Amino acid sequence: MQEGNVQQRSKSTVETYTFTSHSRDCHASQSQRYYFTAAPCDRIFFVFPLIGMAIKMAWQARQRRLAGAKSKLPPSVGLEHVTLGKWLTGAVIGVVLLALANGIFDNILALQLWQKDPFKVLLIILFFASTIASLALLYQAKQRLWRGIFATLSGMGLIVLGSQDGVYRNTGNWYISHYYYGIAVSFLMIFALAIFPDIYQDRSYRWRKVHIVLNCIALLLFVGQSITGARSLLEIPLSWQESYIYQCNFNPASPNYKTCPTISAPPK
Ligand code: HEM
Ligand code: HEM
Repeated sequence: MQEGNVQQRSKSTVETYTFTSHSRDCHASQSQRYYFTAAPCDRIFFVFPLIGMAIKMAWQARQRRLAGAKSKLPPSVGLEHVTLGKWLTGAVIGVVLLALANGIFDNILALQLWQKDPFKVLLIILFFASTIASLALLYQAKQRLWRGIFATLSGMGLIVLGSQDGVYRNTGNWYISHYYYGIAVSFLMIFALAIFPDIYQDRSYRWRKVHIVLNCIALLLFVGQSITGARSLLEIPLSWQESYIYQCNFNPASPNYKTCPTISAPPK
């Protein structure tokens, strides 16, 4: 089995991607390609419409609160926003876990890690399970202490899983990284879910203000996700193009930066 190092996509020289020729066989690449084409569907079809609905209800909840009894808006708008907010948190963490699982398990398959290091594979599976369990318990938790504990555990689970091999983090360009934006927005959603009972209990509106500021940042991050996600789609080569694309020069310091080897035309 041939082994080697290539730069994964057009990221800077900082990170390299270890591959085996085995991992590039037709079947694995084919499934990966289906994933990359299908992956954004859940976000485009489900997450982004949820964001739109949550924002609309948030705006109405605010209008109603500011107008008081004079408002023509029904009192249910606040509650509808919370219901959509809960769905949104679950959906965002769901797509992040799916995306991470794709990168991590693809790497496990490519390096046949379950044979070389089965304990590590088991640990990764346990981390997926415990992150999902922590989020489920966060939905149920009532007391502030437990909400804090399960929110922290959910966040920690995402960090540990996001640090695994196979996840394309683009750390050199963290400020435009799809991964870092995705993790940041997940934290904000988890935080919103953890503090929402405090918004109602707090008469000084402190938590409400914190919620508004943080979720406006979350909105900007969602916009960033749509841009960086589309860029990811463009950057990932099709399986039959990979072997050629990865021979190109991605080193910005090199005089041959952004050049690819010349190929001879196929015989007629
Ligand atoms: C796209 C993300 C979100 C944005 C932009 C957003 C924004 C807002 C805004 C502007 C308000 C009105 C504040 C006011 O009364 O002045 C609000 C209220 C609220 N939000 Fe969110 N929010 C988001 C997600 C969430 C999530 C994920 C949850 C939790 C599950 C949540 C829970 C609440 C609660 C409990 C209220 C108070 C509603 C009421 O007064 O009845 N929000 N939000
Ligand atoms: C709610 C918004 C979104 C979140 C939270 C999110 C989160 C993530 C995360 C955490 C990853 C794994 C890290 C990585 O491999 O880069 C990922 C991968 C990916 N996302 Fe998204 N994403 C979102 C929206 C989108 C959109 C709108 C698109 C496309 C139009 C997209 C396309 C992709 C693709 C193609 C990958 C795998 C390729 C790769 O970057 O390695 N995502 N996403």
